[in-house]
Amino acid sequence: MSAGLRARRAVETMKEYHPPLGGRDGLRLDFNENVDGCSPRVLETLRAMTSETLNRYPEREGGEAAAARHFGMPAEAVLLTNGVDEAIHLLAETYLEPGDEALLAVPTFSMYEIYALATGAEVRTVQSGAGLEFPAEGLLRAITPKTRLICIANPNNPTGAVAEREELLAIARAAPQAAVLVDEAYIHFGGESVLDEVGRVENLFVSRTFSKAYGLAGFRLGALLGPAAQLKMLRRVASPYNVNGIALTCLRAALEDGEYIRGYVAQVLEGRGRLESFYRERAIPYWKSEANFVLAYFGEYRQALVAEMRRRGILVRDRNSDPGCAGCVRITLGNTEQAERLLRELPEALASIGFAAQARPAKERA
Ligand SMILES: Cc1ncc(COP(=O)(O)O)c(C=O)c1O
Repeated sequence: MSAGLRARRAVETMKEYHPPLGGRDGLRLDFNENVDGCSPRVLETLRAMTSETLNRYPEREGGEAAAARHFGMPAEAVLLTNGVDEAIHLLAETYLEPGDEALLAVPTFSMYEIYALATGAEVRTVQSGAGLEFPAEGLLRAITPKTRLICIANPNNPTGAVAEREELLAIARAAPQAAVLVDEAYIHFGGESVLDEVGRVENLFVSRTFSKAYGLAGFRLGALLGPAAQLKMLRRVASPYNVNGIALTCLRAALEDGEYIRGYVAQVLEGRGRLESFYRERAIPYWKSEANFVLAYFGEYRQALVAEMRRRGILVRDRNSDPGCAGCVRITLGNTEQAERLLRELPEALASIGFAAQARPAKERA
């Protein structure tokens, strides 16, 4: 009798990951997307699109040349991907063998762990301290000869914390046998980029997404920048048609409309300042953020708060199960009008659930 079809052991032992997407009606302040829109130039390009864009296989190279000019890099140093998610997947597929180690500072973006585990590699994590700051020293200590992939979100999700440039470079230097990804998904909102080091540091990769500041999460478009010799290896693994023709056709319009990005980012930063002031006034513990969201501690009230905000048409994200984030809720900032609505509804929601601010108990700290 046949043993039947079984997934690889690494896959069978993985947990399922379903982002809680179902029924996201209302103001979506739960996924860190741009909830304002996208550049009007992208919409114009979409409207002018002909069936040619749809009926031909998409050619990534033109888009890579445009992205390369935008980033001031040679085209061989740019790989366009199906969102940063795919960039992470390709790095894991290219560098990790079963038994190798992927190293992560937690809490962080969940897809790093998922793609690493799927290869059969082991995931080593370094927990951030009570301040949820970037644990540079801990990461340096955790590097072993088996470390083959290190993923660092800068600024980090869900904490909004940033890593210093020197810390990132020291980690890359300390693990020359590892691909070091600095994921700059939120770099428009804060933190210092290390893009200028790509090509100089032989194992350093930087990823950028079009899902956040650019407002194009539905396009699934990301860029991975890295040493040309290494990207050559990743291109072997990538599908030649990984980025769809519609996204590729609109890429230039998105990149060229710096004015749209600057306007949106300015609104997010203003809203972030106002939300942080609100938390301070109400003595609600929060973590200073350099991204388009703020993580705060609501303790035993967090589920009621998420539910009450949903009832009021605003989705916010429960981060209780992230390591070191018990009792925490993350709220994304949108445009000025959306920040106004948030800051009107949040105090009312807190009042209606009978919220009383509380310090974060030591046992819930990392
Ligand atoms: C740090 C980080 N990287 C990457 C992504 C995903 O980006 P993309 O939509 O380009 O796949 C996210 C989305 O939440 C994120 O938080």
